Amino acid sequence: MKKSTQAVRAGSRHDINMGGLNTPLLPSSAIEYMDDSEVRYPRYFNTLNHDVVADKMSALEHAEAGLVTSSGMAAISAILFGLLGSGDHVVFTEGLYGGTHALIVNELQRFGISHSFATTDVRELEAACRPETRMIYVESPSNPLMTVVDLPALAAFARHREIITVIDNTFASPILQNPLLHGFDLVMHSGTKYLGGHSDLICGTVNGSAALVASARNHAVAYGGCLNAQDCYLLERSLKTLELRVQRQSDNAGLVAALLDADERVKKVHYPGLEDHPGHAIAARQMHGFGGMLSFELADDIDPIGYIRRLELVNCAISLGGVETTICQPVATSHQKVSEEERQRLGITDGLLRLSVGIEDSEDISADLLQALG
Ligand SMILES: Cc1ncc(COP(=O)(O)O)c(C=O)c1O
Repeated sequence: MKKSTQAVRAGSRHDINMGGLNTPLLPSSAIEYMDDSEVRYPRYFNTLNHDVVADKMSALEHAEAGLVTSSGMAAISAILFGLLGSGDHVVFTEGLYGGTHALIVNELQRFGISHSFATTDVRELEAACRPETRMIYVESPSNPLMTVVDLPALAAFARHREIITVIDNTFASPILQNPLLHGFDLVMHSGTKYLGGHSDLICGTVNGSAALVASARNHAVAYGGCLNAQDCYLLERSLKTLELRVQRQSDNAGLVAALLDADERVKKVHYPGLEDHPGHAIAARQMHGFGGMLSFELADDIDPIGYIRRLELVNCAISLGGVETTICQPVATSHQKVSEEERQRLGITDGLLRLSVGIEDSEDISADLLQALG
């Protein structure tokens, strides 16, 4: 099946009692077990509404198995704490989402897990590996500078060294990038973003081999980060339009990025679809479109806060991937917890603005972004 068909059809279960086309919403926390080979309980991530979403995501990500969690951070925790143990070392790409960065620097060491950061350059990631390295974890495209990792090259190296490769695929969505097809072992999403897509849902997903997903799940059961049935249902409904939404968002972002890039009041646009972006050639090889996210820096004489306040259509809001276009200042939101020194080093300046392009008409979005330049 093609993506748009998978998004609608994969995983869904008809209502066998009434013939309804939608999967029934089954919020029971007490489930009879005598006639089932598996004991089912919402915190075990294995009710009907969990299974349906996990199966749809497995189809979209070309995975053997999946897990749906209560947030993107719960998915990341399930992976890190489910697969790593004391004495293990992990290599992370720099400039990760601020919440992930905080989890790494504040929590991993308490469990005896050491880590290193490297740039998204594959040679640097390889050089950061040690004999005890058990995992390489990347974001591509990354938040907020949209740097890109060469996924097949990194996966080939890691496989040779028996290192587990994990990617946060939130920015691309399974419509535009399937890391497992490039040799990665596990893919996670903050489903709060494109998968949910309507800015009304917090959730996360993990997909990969049955063995790795089972390990992550076994620990996640103990940590308790399950998603409730209602939100699984909402997520399933949202996923049915994922392909339509993401294609439109990606097309709109390409148009907006080109317009901003051509305007002298904008100093720099970070978008992998632009030919001068350092990751453009790699992104063109491994993605099916460049995505709905971009970031840009205004000319020095334009105050970023004043710019945001002048916007009339685009909302200034945290989070991303919704149907509406939103903008935020990473230093005040996603990267607030990253030290100023680290932000300077990474190029996450006060003037950097991150745009999540929605599904509105691209001319309306562009007109608003340009009028606010003054
Ligand atoms: C790239 C990325 N990964 C993970 C997360 C964490 O997801 P959640 O907020 O659903 O826990 C976010 C949240 O902004 C994100 O942008």
